[in-house]
Amino acid sequence: MTDHRLADDPPPYFDTHIFMCCNRRPDGHPRGSCAARGADALRDYMKARANALGLKRVRVNQAGCLDRCELGPCVVIYPEGVWYKVESPADVDAVLERHVRDGGRVPELMLPAG
Ligand code: FES
Repeated sequence: MTDHRLADDPPPYFDTHIFMCCNRRPDGHPRGSCAARGADALRDYMKARANALGLKRVRVNQAGCLDRCELGPCVVIYPEGVWYKVESPADVDAVLERHVRDGGRVPELMLPAG
């Protein structure tokens, strides 16, 4: 993986930045949308669960469309750039605990390479 940081860059403000798409399209749109698949409630759960786990220097942010709509609800985690499909609170727990807290991966939820 390429590290894009330069030697004189200030240190990152967060160690882990999680973006969860909450874009909503009109019902019947051919691409669908993450909000139509429950992303708003999952975002709220993820924020609360990250706090409950005491994760430090981790930010959960609502995002607009991440352009992988058909595969959503989509989450991407940086700096790793790993994408997940998160459909349930159990999926959120798996991503926060196994990826973010423990530094591992959740291969069964990963989106395929683009
Ligand atoms: S609507 Fe979520 S990735 Fe586009």
